[in-house]
Amino acid sequence: MEQVCENTSIIIFGASGDLTWRKLIPALYNNFKKGRLSDCANIIGFARRPYTDETFRVYLRDGVSQNSSETFDPAVWEKFAERVHYFQGNLEHGDDFPALGAFLTKLENGPANRLYYLATAPEYYAPVAGYLGAANMTRPADELDGWRRIIIEKPFGIDLASAQNLNHALHTVFDENQIYRIDHYLGKETSQNILFFRFANTIFEPVWNRRYVDNIQITVAEDLDVGHRAGYYDSAGVVRDMFQNHILQLLALVAMEPPSSFNADSIRNEKAKVLDSIRPLSLQDTVRGQYSGYSNAAGVGPGSQTPTFAAFKLYIDNWRWKGVPFYLRSGKALNRKVSEIIIEFQRPPHLMFHMPSDADFTPNILSLTIQPDEGIHLRFEAKVPDSDQDMRSVDMDFLYHSSFNGALLPDAYERLLLEAIEGDASLFTRSDAIEAAWNLIDQVLQGWEGTDSPELVIYKPGTWGPRSADELLARDKRKWRTSSIDNAIAIHAK
Ligand code: BG6
Repeated sequence: MEQVCENTSIIIFGASGDLTWRKLIPALYNNFKKGRLSDCANIIGFARRPYTDETFRVYLRDGVSQNSSETFDPAVWEKFAERVHYFQGNLEHGDDFPALGAFLTKLENGPANRLYYLATAPEYYAPVAGYLGAANMTRPADELDGWRRIIIEKPFGIDLASAQNLNHALHTVFDENQIYRIDHYLGKETSQNILFFRFANTIFEPVWNRRYVDNIQITVAEDLDVGHRAGYYDSAGVVRDMFQNHILQLLALVAMEPPSSFNADSIRNEKAKVLDSIRPLSLQDTVRGQYSGYSNAAGVGPGSQTPTFAAFKLYIDNWRWKGVPFYLRSGKALNRKVSEIIIEFQRPPHLMFHMPSDADFTPNILSLTIQPDEGIHLRFEAKVPDSDQDMRSVDMDFLYHSSFNGALLPDAYERLLLEAIEGDASLFTRSDAIEAAWNLIDQVLQGWEGTDSPELVIYKPGTWGPRSADELLARDKRKWRTSSIDNAIAIHAK
């Protein structure tokens, strides 16, 4: 692709951190390799360590060769590395920001766009935005100058009040359309595909509602435990870490109304509307668990009550979804890593085949697998050959890997960085959606502090979490579903 040489500075605060090394630089490198990054783009790392441009590049080269080994090419890296610079600065020193400004002006040598990336600890988000504002770096110098944008990492606040305060601090120096709040789940190909699946096809949308859907399940399970992140995790817990952002964003994609166009505002209007329509959860419809051994991890407070697993049942009070339960679950140290959305359809109104028991019948299930084995599966019943009325569940499968000739799915950060540079905010969360999500989550977290709260259940690592998560569905005569048909057994009529 022919590149226009647009002068763009990508400034990463927190440049010596893990995120920069593992995700951001590999994503920028891959975009550069694909010809999607302007040849005139500069990447400037801002951190305290005494790197030079040279030593910074050597450090980052390792990050790309290790984290993007399939695409790493030493010759391309050399060209890319010429665009990488280092500015030694301290996030707590206001004076370092005008100095950074002078450094950028010299490097840019003319009008330029600037993308600031806050890959720092969350306590620096508001101060850094404030310092950038004070140094006149959040607006173009004149009408010939380029745009200014800022990407904010998660967590965006720890509750509704802190998220509102952060929004307020950002809005003091940036307009909402300059702010890109990142949620890497929205950059995953399979999450983006939800809108294409729903709105670029006609056969699913007519049944995507309370008349045909029995329930919807979202599972985001991880087999790993908290590892070395216990210090952060113990103050966050699974609900802040996974539900407030990733899971509610997936839910919004599945449940939202069709937007009028594929632009950021139309999409984000619909997402905000659906999040706003979620009924406050009943505490009895929540489960919280902690894997055994968590409290011994380094960085975890003694007797920690932090949940590493949660399951919720919730309802969306609108015409499309009235009465359809949404079951959500996520946790660490579970049976395996899988992120999946299941749409379970209603049973046939009348079953003319002989069944040993109604409970044995498997309804139609559509599963959108976010990761791994990215794909979509539709499960339906088929007659077992050479039998009278035996039936078995079979799957119709779409797998990215086979349908797109083994194409590598890009890392979410690759797409997200590109979209921010191109000024498309569709995949980023707007302030109203962030606040709607916190509003819901706050009620649960506050409820869990009270006396009516469900117990924190200790579960065994390697399982699917507390038994009460299964009971949450069993009470409604339902069960957690997965896309795997490995265990599907033929139902014998006689
Ligand atoms: C992060 C959470 O946002 O998402 C982590 O902070 C979690 O705790 C991670 O492990 C999961 O992301 P992915 O892409 O591996 O599913």
